[in-house]
Amino acid sequence: MKKLFESTVVGGLPLRNRFIRSATFEYVFDESEKFSAKLRPMYEKLASNGVAAIITGMVGIDENSRVLPSMIKAYGQTFVPELAKLVESVHGLGAKLIVQISHCGQKANQIDNGGSPLGPSDSETAQGNPVKAISRDGIRSVIASFAEAAARCKQAGADAVKIEAAHGYFLSEFLNPYFNKRTDEYGGNIENRARIVFEVYDAIRAATGNEYPVWIKINSKDLTEESISPEEFLWVCNELDKRGIDAIEVSGGASITPQSTSSPLIKKAEDEGCFAREALQVAETASASVISVCGYRTPDVIEKWLNEGNIAAISLCRPLISEPDLVGRWESGDRRKARCISCSKCFNPGLVCIPFSKKA
Ligand SMILES: Cc1cc2nc3c(=O)[nH]c(=O)nc-3n(C[C@H](O)[C@H](O)[C@H](O)COP(=O)(O)O)c2cc1C
Repeated sequence: MKKLFESTVVGGLPLRNRFIRSATFEYVFDESEKFSAKLRPMYEKLASNGVAAIITGMVGIDENSRVLPSMIKAYGQTFVPELAKLVESVHGLGAKLIVQISHCGQKANQIDNGGSPLGPSDSETAQGNPVKAISRDGIRSVIASFAEAAARCKQAGADAVKIEAAHGYFLSEFLNPYFNKRTDEYGGNIENRARIVFEVYDAIRAATGNEYPVWIKINSKDLTEESISPEEFLWVCNELDKRGIDAIEVSGGASITPQSTSSPLIKKAEDEGCFAREALQVAETASASVISVCGYRTPDVIEKWLNEGNIAAISLCRPLISEPDLVGRWESGDRRKARCISCSKCFNPGLVCIPFSKKA
């Protein structure tokens, strides 16, 4: 029987327990590019309170990739030395650091050189702004930028990189037929829609070597009118597994409407583990470690899901914004559920947990 607090290996990394801080956008980047000063206290709090691994918020791979000016640039001048400082702090406290490398596609509101956000096809954002279909040359450039970003993470000493292929961002838009209307080799059937994801993975593998852990976060369902199908999702995970991916974090939701949110309301124990069934299906056959994210609030429920099958670890986002010491609290024997009420008001600069903040 798997226990919450036992050392284990997840995605090629020895972890002290099965709790991972899921990628959480931190709103810390500014012109100074000295993001480590703001992130260090946040990460130290998590790492000193038991979290086994921290996945950074999204880090942009190129000038067209960032959702906001406060998103860290993997292509910035200070990226490697600033990241190295964070790695050192987190390692000093016994945790691992994984960098989520991302292109935000049609959600990229910060195009460094101006122009429209890019997606698989011409379309409009939820706000009615134009999205431009990326060219084949553009795709080649994105793939190269993902690989360069991964190499820089490795250079800085990060324990792994995680490809963002979930939540309606660029790679997730290719996988989802709701966004992807291409008629070339990157659109149509799932072999074509997933092609860019495999090419990004292969390029990262070539740039970082066979031993470097490469993880991915992927949608099991998009919750949009059209979506990746359950069979397609399993096929993509299986192909990634065959190629040698080290960990697959199973999520869902394109996050373009309240109905398609990837951070839903969790009211009762039955709501926890929103995409756990899909994670279990992947874990039935995958050699890669499978991580389940979304809605986990109660140690007993987490333990139950971990023991339903081969899920290796779970990741938490909003509960750790509300209570950065949550994992330590559970480890000390106080197994009351997380106080997070899933209101998602933490989607704000500073990651303030509004309902429990003294200022509220
Ligand atoms: C404030 C905030 C920032 C987030 N930033 C990211 C991100 O940068 N990358 C990502 O893949 N998911 C991001 N997510 C989604 C979470 O990682 C997670 O998938 C989702 O919130 C469900 O988990 P939870 O119920 O533990 O919050 C974010 C969620 C929140 C609330």
